[in-house]
Amino acid sequence: MSFAELWESLLPIGRDPGTGGYRRFSWTDADLRCRDWFRATAAARGLTVRADRAGNLWAWWDTTPGAGPAPRARAVVTGSHLDSVPGGGAFDGPLGVVSAFAAIDTLRERGFEPARPVAVVAFTEEEGARFGVACLGSRLLTGAISAAAARGLRDADGVSLAAAMAACGGEPDGPGPDEELPGQVAAFVELHIEQGRQLADLGAAIGIGEGIWPHGRWRFDFTGRADHAGTTALPDRRDPMLPFAATVLVARQVAARHGALSTFGKVRAVPGGVNAIPAGVRAWLDARALDDGSLRRVVEEITAAADRAAADHGVAAAVTRESFSPPVAFDPALRARLAAALAGRAIKAPALRTGAGHDAGVLAARIPTAMLFVRNPSGVSHAPQEHADAADCETGVAALAAVLEELAVA
Ligand code: GLV
Ligand code: MN
Ligand code: MN
Repeated sequence: MSFAELWESLLPIGRDPGTGGYRRFSWTDADLRCRDWFRATAAARGLTVRADRAGNLWAWWDTTPGAGPAPRARAVVTGSHLDSVPGGGAFDGPLGVVSAFAAIDTLRERGFEPARPVAVVAFTEEEGARFGVACLGSRLLTGAISAAAARGLRDADGVSLAAAMAACGGEPDGPGPDEELPGQVAAFVELHIEQGRQLADLGAAIGIGEGIWPHGRWRFDFTGRADHAGTTALPDRRDPMLPFAATVLVARQVAARHGALSTFGKVRAVPGGVNAIPAGVRAWLDARALDDGSLRRVVEEITAAADRAAADHGVAAAVTRESFSPPVAFDPALRARLAAALAGRAIKAPALRTGAGHDAGVLAARIPTAMLFVRNPSGVSHAPQEHADAADCETGVAALAAVLEELAVA
């Protein structure tokens, strides 16, 4: 099956008519259909699928078929995620999973026989769109989040992660780490659409990830007093929307001053009546910066501004960190091997740093890890317009096949 056919087979799943994009939240119907697609795609290739305790799916190309529970040490693993942000694009995540299967097809067509096990992985809840913690599946796998903390996570309707997984026939003991699996992986390479325009500006179809900016999510709760919009005089109000609005503007100024990025992309007014002053406003700050110190200062300054604005309006403010990812530098030796493999195929691949988070960044704390990026002509991502040209996707598959061959040849 060609890359294009494989790509087309996943496209109909989880479309979101409201935005024209995708809504593939973990442990929902759309996610279960993505999982069925993964299992069927693996089965069609004779790959053995297993889910780990976090619900991440692994499709194994075993080097010793029929050898029982084959030792999987020194495995070469590639893949990405199938979940999406609300109104997400088609490429963020799925491009890495589809390209992984297509790269295995390419290697087999060439008659390549790996000297070590090769696996395709699809991580669960990379976007943190349902349970709030980015890269939840890879964090659980590596122990970067404890099983107890993960079990307590709840979605917007109060459904716990454990209940959501159980309702989908998942892990009966609830989510947890896998003690052995990370130790069996010699290298993980994630192919991903670029979420910016660096490759387009450099005139290259493929890039090699150098590192990831530190980033995180902070929940801001402004608690005021609900009242009537038509009768409450302005001086009598304790309106939480006002300090929230002031905080949004400050967040932009603070980020600009530090060469950082800050975004309030999700906000809820409670109870949310048009003709009522809200009792509370809950909003989530996504902040990213070049280094830990800058990120800490950005968040401290925004928090201080929120406290001041809340006090000015008789409102209480509380800030809670929900998710944090430290800076990542991908494994230099592995990056050098990727660069050599691509140079050998005459694939130009400049090095890129990115502000976007990835499961590869989480795994990098335990496993030699690298990333390949595929050009995104407009740079738009986390939106329906996200796009990579078919020719660049094909180059991505060729690049990934070259890399897997290099890593699994001995
Ligand atoms: C994931 O795409 C992120 O960077 O939030
Ligand atoms: Mn994403
Ligand atoms: Mn992604």
